[in-house]
Amino acid sequence: MSKIAIIGTGKMGQNLGKALANGGNTILFGSRSPEAKLDLAGWTGVTTIEDAIGEAEIVIITLPYTAVEPFAREHANRLRGKLVIDITNPFSNLPDNRISGPEITANAIGAGARVVAAFKTNFHNTLLSPLDANGVQRDVFFAGDSEADKQIVAGLIQGMGFRPVDCGALKNARVLDGMVPLMIELNGRYNGNRELSWKLLP
Ligand SMILES: NC(=O)c1ccc[n+]([C@@H]2O[C@H](COP(=O)([O-])OP(=O)(O)OC[C@H]3O[C@@H](n4cnc5c(N)ncnc54)[C@H](OP(=O)(O)O)[C@@H]3O)[C@@H](O)[C@H]2O)c1
Repeated sequence: MSKIAIIGTGKMGQNLGKALANGGNTILFGSRSPEAKLDLAGWTGVTTIEDAIGEAEIVIITLPYTAVEPFAREHANRLRGKLVIDITNPFSNLPDNRISGPEITANAIGAGARVVAAFKTNFHNTLLSPLDANGVQRDVFFAGDSEADKQIVAGLIQGMGFRPVDCGALKNARVLDGMVPLMIELNGRYNGNRELSWKLLP
């Protein structure tokens, strides 16, 4: 079981936190205004971003995309050597289509960065429902360059009740980035109620 810092206390952060806590992990939120987030303190701790990173082995970034690179640069020294899970989605904010959000995060942290992209293609209101309405297990797609780090992430995903799907190297997060606008398009076309999931069928 891991000590996990979740940076950001929004929809994804809170649902991921609950799902990972149910899986037996210790969760500590890092917030810009921890004193205003005491409602979370019933089931977990909330502290400053610096302290949350300092306490954790694993850091999950759940910020709005435009806040991620500044965050990674500001906290690069603290983040280096820790497993960083980037769940954020850039939409139209990428400089071009030859790099992904998580690669930009890794570059901002610098040498020694350990970044895995995950949960980018899972709507927040599915994170506490690993089985869909038909009892089918949902998938979580993830990508990263370290097999050891991906094994840790796969374990977290399994602990939440989801099936981990290893999508290969971190550069494949470029494809995951592109799957998100399509997921939102499909959600609208098929009245998905933000409960759709990508599923890899055998
Ligand atoms: N919603 C989804 O279904 C979904 C699915 C997959 C991926 N994502 C990605 O996950 C990330 C978070 O999405 P979300 O829906 O959880 O967003 P959200 O509800 O708006 O939460 C974002 C959190 O980030 C923190 N934050 C730090 N800097 C901020 C800033 N400049 N402006 C606003 N908030 C800031 C805030 O927490 P504090 O106030 O405590 O600092 C805020 O609660 C996004 O990058 C999104 O693309 C979302």
